[in-house]
Amino acid sequence: MNKTVLVSGGAGFIGSHVTVELSQKGYEVIIADNMSNCDETNYRGVCAILGRELPFIRMDFCDRKAVEELFSTHRIDAVIHFAAFKAVGESVEEPLKYYSNNLESFINVLGAARAHGSGVLFSSSATVYGEPDELPVTEKSPRQSATSPYGNTKQMCEDLLRDSVKAYKGLKGIALRYFNPIGAHPSALIGELPRGVPNNLVPFITQTAIGKRECLSIFGDDYPTPDGTCQRDYIDIVDLAKAHVAAVDRILEGRMKEDYEIFNVGTGRPVSVMELVKAFEKVNNLKLNYRIAPRRAGDVTAIWADPSLAEKELGWKAERSVEQTLAAAWAWEKHLAGKD
Ligand code: UD1
Repeated sequence: MNKTVLVSGGAGFIGSHVTVELSQKGYEVIIADNMSNCDETNYRGVCAILGRELPFIRMDFCDRKAVEELFSTHRIDAVIHFAAFKAVGESVEEPLKYYSNNLESFINVLGAARAHGSGVLFSSSATVYGEPDELPVTEKSPRQSATSPYGNTKQMCEDLLRDSVKAYKGLKGIALRYFNPIGAHPSALIGELPRGVPNNLVPFITQTAIGKRECLSIFGDDYPTPDGTCQRDYIDIVDLAKAHVAAVDRILEGRMKEDYEIFNVGTGRPVSVMELVKAFEKVNNLKLNYRIAPRRAGDVTAIWADPSLAEKELGWKAERSVEQTLAAAWAWEKHLAGKD
């Protein structure tokens, strides 16, 4: 019988891509989402890509009874926990909203996983490294104090997983630290759906190119980097999704070396904001309206991954080029606008 993976937040940007890759690898997937930050677009896209309806449960992971009931009524071999709030700025204004949602939901997942023997995969972030002293960052690079409640919830959830695994025999978990996930599925049927004005770079670029936004602001060109703009490690969303499949395989095939493991999920390749903008223009053959604006508070100068541990232990590495990823992001934006 196929193993079953529960994907909390499975109707969102990352969750929907992970659902597709897991299903294509032969896993049964149960999507659960409270739809607080998305509509049904990605869920429908997932079903269209796979050519079948997937089980969908509308629920809030902060509802402990609902989580317990879900685990009691379904055999769940592993759970991937995406259901969380993720807007950095909002988390500064509404810290209690972030702490209660992001921590309570994960505590409930951990309790149920412990009771039912499910493996746990947590979606962490490179934000835990703050402004690193040395580049690229390895999993051994020190975490730095979080600069936002959002970032703090990522660190606290990592600690919840680490401490639970240590205390509760049989519980196993992996935290994946994502760098900057971008792009969309090559089918252009699922992708990022930011609400309101996008905070992240690539959705802002594609919305500017399609005419929804007038002009992209490049936040700062006086950083101590080769071209003065910040450098990040942009990881293709399908590559990122495949890292989850490799991590679930590792948990369920009993290949973990420790009961709690952490892996960076990045390309190992720094790309500056200006390089990304130029690559977007070139690959999609268009001109983007942009201007240089003041630095954005809280941005780190540069961060990119050393992804060698994931390659060695998970047998995973990023495969898609920035150009392929930016072409997919643009195809998705056009699909949303009905122009494809
Ligand atoms: C941000 C969060 C990070 C979170 C991630 C989720 C911060 C400090 N970090 O990462 O915790 O996990 O999103 O995706 O908020 N940029 C522009 N113009 C724009 C938007 C962005 O120049 O309109 C620049 C930024 O200055 C940055 C780069 O593009 O240098 C990437 O920004 P963004 O996509 O927001 O990601 P991060 O800030 O790296």
